[in-house]
Amino acid sequence: MSIAYLNGDYLPLAEAQISPLDRGFMFADGIYEVIPVYAGCPFRLTEHLTRLAYSLAEVAIRNPFTVKEWSNICHQLVDLNGGGNLSIYLQITRGTPQVRDHAFPQNETPATVFAMVHPMTIPTTQPQHNQGFSAITLQDLRWARCDIKSIALLPNILMRQQAASQNATEAILLKNGNAVEGAASNLFIVKDGVIITAPLGPEILGGITRDVIIELCQQHQLALIERSIAETELRSAEEIWITSSTREVVPIVSLDGQPVGLGTPGPVWQKVAYYYTQFRRQLCGLEPL
Ligand code: PDD
Repeated sequence: MSIAYLNGDYLPLAEAQISPLDRGFMFADGIYEVIPVYAGCPFRLTEHLTRLAYSLAEVAIRNPFTVKEWSNICHQLVDLNGGGNLSIYLQITRGTPQVRDHAFPQNETPATVFAMVHPMTIPTTQPQHNQGFSAITLQDLRWARCDIKSIALLPNILMRQQAASQNATEAILLKNGNAVEGAASNLFIVKDGVIITAPLGPEILGGITRDVIIELCQQHQLALIERSIAETELRSAEEIWITSSTREVVPIVSLDGQPVGLGTPGPVWQKVAYYYTQFRRQLCGLEPL
């Protein structure tokens, strides 16, 4: 049984209880984060906590903790759950008022703070990682503030399920003629040898993995630009990848049933996936492969 954190207590996950009046349950009025942990070491923790603070500020939920306090909770949870490879899930909601009312509750209503961990399989160790995955495209159903990591994920869920029902690993979302990101991932393509990813803004979540990939490309002199990706460019891309904390950098070899490039993970992905693996091993004090 894994150990979770709820409002100051560490307890077995099955014993964590929340009122039905919690605004997360009532309105999906809350924010979340997902932080990967390798060999007991949270990856890019400060960056995840900075994004958490940003999301909370954007929806006017007071951040209940400092970076140091959040960091202590994360490390404590990892230790209580035996370390290893995990993902930490953090959720903060606007608390539990006495009545259901759309407007914010009184200031004294404390936020609900919940955290848990799940075991995480490192994606690059899975054989299918090297054969590639398929994706579908869908029109983006979401709201106008996708830069906020809101727990209101109904459109993302519906789109991801549509992908799953077609045996696809992700839905790549189209908005105003551009490919913006995945239902739960950021998007990269390779065109004429240049790596392209959509720019930051309200249409996408500023992914922590996306930032790592951009840094690694700069470090290794791989040409990368941040600009809009037209749907036509997506469909004629030499390579397509999606990135997220729990999936790292995933090669997409089939899009809407059509092969991407040669229909196998491309040479630029091979390089970037290698750099990514080396980077996180180094950061977590592991030997390079
Ligand atoms: N999702 N875009 C969306 C819409 C996402 O939901 C995610 C991650 C990302 C990638 O962000 P990062 O690299 O920081 O994980 C981009 C997480 C993993 C989730 O919802 O479980």
